[in-house]
Amino acid sequence: MTQLSAKDVPGMGRRQFMNLLTFGSVTGVALGALYPVVNYFIPPKAGGGGGGTTAKDELGNTVTATGWLASHKEGDRSLVQGLKGDPTYLIVEGPEAIGAYGINAICTHLGCVVPWNSGANKFMCPCHGSQYDATGKVVRGPAPLSLALAHVTVDNDTVFVSQWTETDFRTGDKPWWS
Ligand code: FES
Repeated sequence: MTQLSAKDVPGMGRRQFMNLLTFGSVTGVALGALYPVVNYFIPPKAGGGGGGTTAKDELGNTVTATGWLASHKEGDRSLVQGLKGDPTYLIVEGPEAIGAYGINAICTHLGCVVPWNSGANKFMCPCHGSQYDATGKVVRGPAPLSLALAHVTVDNDTVFVSQWTETDFRTGDKPWWS
């Protein structure tokens, strides 16, 4: 067993200091590597709280705002895969703007995917005839409820979909889906 002498102490201090530096830089690298992951799950402008997801097109590619706006005209309502992969309509508000809310396409009657009918300016369910206006508010049964909403945000050109937990602006009620 070796005994520490007084002259060893400064040397130990240096080693500990070096260890600390190494630990610090490893931690820094680990945090740096984690950042995009954390960022992915918490979109900076989620607004609605409760994690979001990147919108995906029918091929599973991430939807970008510039790509979407280049191929979809004002007033367009087309589907992306949103939260939990649910078919969700993005709304094109203008030449440079994707609407801040998306509309979940699953019919509140028995779950058919409801197509957008641009001529009628409504979502019209082929299964039992339910209809929803351009915001997804139910205007004809048998569907009992309006289509669910989701927040849509664009960050760094990537389109994100996140939970809508606030009041349903179409009815003034609490959202039935959250
Ligand atoms: Fe849409 Fe029945 S599932 S009207």
